[in-house]
Amino acid sequence: MQTKILSTSEYDIALAGEIIAKGGLVAFPTETVYGLGANALDDDAVKSIYVAKGRPSDNPLIVHVSDKADIAPLVKEITPKAQALIDEFFPAPLTIILPKSKKIGNAVSGGLDTVAVRMPENETARRLIKSAGCPVAAPSANTSGLPSPTRAKYVIEDMSGKIDAIIDGGDCEFGVESTVITLATEVPTILRPGAVTQEMIEQVIGRVDIARAVLEGMKNDEVAASPGMKYKHYAPKARVMIVDADKTAYENFVNLQKDAFALCFEEDNITIPKVTFGKENDDLSQAKELFDALRQLDEMGAKKVYARIPNTKGVGMAVYNRLIRAAAFNIIDLKKPFFIGLTGQTGAGKDYVGRYFAKLGFHIINSDEIVKKIYDNNPELLQQLAEEFGNDILVNGTLDRKKLAMLAFSSRENTDRLNKLVHPAVISLCEQEARPLAVLDAPQLFEANAQSKCYKIISVIAPYGTRLKRIMQRDNITKEQADLRINAQLDEQYYIDNSDFVIYNNGEDIEIQIRKIMEEII
Ligand code: TXA
Ligand code: MG
Repeated sequence: MQTKILSTSEYDIALAGEIIAKGGLVAFPTETVYGLGANALDDDAVKSIYVAKGRPSDNPLIVHVSDKADIAPLVKEITPKAQALIDEFFPAPLTIILPKSKKIGNAVSGGLDTVAVRMPENETARRLIKSAGCPVAAPSANTSGLPSPTRAKYVIEDMSGKIDAIIDGGDCEFGVESTVITLATEVPTILRPGAVTQEMIEQVIGRVDIARAVLEGMKNDEVAASPGMKYKHYAPKARVMIVDADKTAYENFVNLQKDAFALCFEEDNITIPKVTFGKENDDLSQAKELFDALRQLDEMGAKKVYARIPNTKGVGMAVYNRLIRAAAFNIIDLKKPFFIGLTGQTGAGKDYVGRYFAKLGFHIINSDEIVKKIYDNNPELLQQLAEEFGNDILVNGTLDRKKLAMLAFSSRENTDRLNKLVHPAVISLCEQEARPLAVLDAPQLFEANAQSKCYKIISVIAPYGTRLKRIMQRDNITKEQADLRINAQLDEQYYIDNSDFVIYNNGEDIEIQIRKIMEEII
């Protein structure tokens, strides 16, 4: 099919209206994103929208009108809250869901008994609907799964040859799709955030909820309040990861990355290839540019993208909602004190893994060294230890570490007694030394309850025989003594169950294992 590219002239709008009236498909600009329109009352025309987009048929469409008076025939009833929203906002980037009337077929509503209606603000959109002489069903004019088009050129890319015409009306003002609110539930609920914010709506109709899936991923067995929630969205070809960090931490992190792109704010100082989406404290600019930025990243051939996390206030919630879907809910959390917590069974080879991380440029914080510092500088703690384990552990006021280790690691109970005294002091000192991308190398990470301070936890485990041999050699102790230490530790299953990743030091190449893990994390 030859797709006509039309202007916003009187003549072209009349032509486009006629195409829709006759059952054809026309893409047109709105103030949010471009829409792909068909006569909402013509089931066959509506079905062809799904085909052109490759959209699942259970994902309903929004019905667009050019006049407030055209809403009543589409719905069972305009409730007082619906009327209040219409009076206050329409025309607007706001979509209202209400129980549908008999006029609305199953193709438009995806088989639901409700219908989504919106009166767009964009003049070209309203002129087109008026000229078509019918309500216009229109999803965003992108191929299903790709970012919504905010410029005519992206519609042309996605829809050329698949639809009758595209009206080129320039760039869209808001850049994210309309706010979708359902009034078909007891408490009005925002299913998709947009430029009309929760605060703005609450001022008119009182309490409004935000559907959980707006900011979080859907659970596997969860039923979608809006079918659109369950589908992959806005995804460029690249793997996108959101970096939760302030400006400086983000810059430091991103500038270290190779073969990657930054999706950042204009103010960010980035030395790797980048695409910006607006300014840090300007949510409207972020909304306007986000989809365009995602499309640009594709054009530039980006494979890996690190995105700066937007604020979720105001329209920022809409930006965050789209970005987190583009990132498939992948968030790298740099706000925790430690990027990686590295732990494992004694003698399993954790130190080797730590050294490899250091080679990769990570800042290693070795809790054993911190423990030494603590013993050297904390007479109060030494006194408490002497009270707990006997004065023999002190020689001229300094700690006989070997003796303490013998006593403390000889049983689970003794280990616990030591831990209670030492752990809190150690972890807090480790935290003081933390820098961006710190690795906390801590054999007692779990015992010290430091999990929540680490973004990801890696445990190193090894077969019993290997560990036994290593401990005996390393510490110059007998098999019995080594056994005692091994038995005082958490078992293998505990490490497996409580870690994000496990490295097996059983002859498999450790560096390959680490690189694989790092690929998954960043
Ligand atoms: O800004 C916009 O709303 C753009 C422009 C073209 O108007 N349109 C748009 O349509 O974004 P679409 O189809 O891409 O997104 C409509 C969303 C989908 O997530 C869909 O699941 C939801 O609205 N939706 C539509 N009807 C619904 C209904 N009856 N119940 C629940 N969700 C509904
Ligand atoms: Mg869409």
